[in-house]
Amino acid sequence: MKRVPSASTALGYAHTANQINLGKKMTKDAFRLISPGGTETDLPVLSGTVGPDVIDVGKLYKEQGVFTYDPGYVSTGSCESDITYIDGEQGILMYRGYPVEQLAEHSSFLEVSYLLLHGELPTADQLRSFDKTIRTHTMLNEGMLNFFKGFRYDAHPMAMLSAVVGSMSAYYHKEMDASNPEHRDIFAHRILAKLPTIAAAAYKLNTGQPFMYPQNDLNYCENLLHMLFAVPAEPYEIDPIAAEALDLLFILHADHEQNCSTSTVRMAGSSGANPYSAIAAGISALWGPAHGGANEAVLNMLEEIGDASQIHRFVAKAKDKNDPFRLMGFGHRVYKNFDPRATIIRDMAHKVLEKLGRSDTPMFDLARELEHVALNDDYFIEKKLYPNVDFYSGIIYRALEIPTSMFTVMFAIGRSVGWTAHWREMISDPTARISRPRQLYTGPTQRDYVPIAKR
Ligand code: CMC
Repeated sequence: MKRVPSASTALGYAHTANQINLGKKMTKDAFRLISPGGTETDLPVLSGTVGPDVIDVGKLYKEQGVFTYDPGYVSTGSCESDITYIDGEQGILMYRGYPVEQLAEHSSFLEVSYLLLHGELPTADQLRSFDKTIRTHTMLNEGMLNFFKGFRYDAHPMAMLSAVVGSMSAYYHKEMDASNPEHRDIFAHRILAKLPTIAAAAYKLNTGQPFMYPQNDLNYCENLLHMLFAVPAEPYEIDPIAAEALDLLFILHADHEQNCSTSTVRMAGSSGANPYSAIAAGISALWGPAHGGANEAVLNMLEEIGDASQIHRFVAKAKDKNDPFRLMGFGHRVYKNFDPRATIIRDMAHKVLEKLGRSDTPMFDLARELEHVALNDDYFIEKKLYPNVDFYSGIIYRALEIPTSMFTVMFAIGRSVGWTAHWREMISDPTARISRPRQLYTGPTQRDYVPIAKR
């Protein structure tokens, strides 16, 4: 950054007499910005139902000729949303107002999906009908299976997932009118129902086994396990513990407000791009190791650490500013106390491993020991770095015999409903505009073109 803020720029709190109700949000006070030249702008302060107020800086450029600057959006709200709330200091996560702990204990992934998409928990009839709709949309257009013949046998499943989901717009384009509520519903059902089928097809390509068609008498997670692990040559018995564990993981992954992949879906969708392309963009964003790719990275890291005697060496590497290594599955932009999802998953990992008869897994013990060492280390305490959702999820996936390269795909299946809910919210908002951030330009100022012979 080349500019230093002027010392005479003042940011003060000014009280306005009237509270203005702007629909769901409420303006109360205003921040008064006084430029070095003395021009005053009152920036409205908006309150949501819970959480910090936000300063509406929309008119700042028009009135003061300056932009705000916040790389990584550390202090910037990008939209109004009534889907998910996080309090990072208290470790609170709520979907549509319901604490994730309660949903994890009492609900199911499909019920949570209905809640995220429609705003309320379903009645028994609504849930039955939603479940039936999802079960009857699980098949892919047969032509889509040809994509898998084109990919290399060892293609990463996330690469296939994003490509094939993007290609859905080539198959289902007749029901892609974003202004049509019925089309928006059909899109939501197709994404939720077909993602497990696409994910399983990618896995089957990697293993060289034949693709297994969905079986619609099975529930959501049973069907996924069937498509992943059944083979045509012999019967496959679904382990109810595995189906239950997956269902719980999907609930915990279902939404997380304006995270990187969800913001990507919103941004891509804000241009009016078709929703399948927007979801494909979200899948690509999720793949990164700082985001959903961390669950795969955690297992790779635990394998590299090998045994407890090496933990201190790796913790020292994570603290070394000259070493790019970071403790994967640790830290979070929002959670500065604990990630409630990590707590639920750690407890669940213990139970799942016990029920599956794998409680002696050295990987889980190593992870627990690493957590213990990091949580007692001054660096991690001072920077408020705690295990996040990805620290223990991979241990469960491993116990369910899901290969490491499929971990982020599992995350994507769970998160797909959150992406869809946010896309629907964004597209139904009459005030929504194309997402188009500004910048602080630090490149050359105007100069004249030099012919190549003179350079
Ligand atoms: N190991 C070592 N140091 C860390 C770690 C870590 N895992 N995470 C953060 N730090 C340090 C970081 O170096 C920085 O130090 P300093 O203040 O001296 O520069 C400080 O803590 C703040 O970190 P940051 O990178 O500025 O924080 P961020 O909010 O930009 O990044 C994060 C958040 C999740 C990307 C980061 O903590 C990280 O890379 N963690 C490891 C990857 C990971 O587990 N990602 C999954 C996130 S949860 C699932 C999801 O939402 O997708």
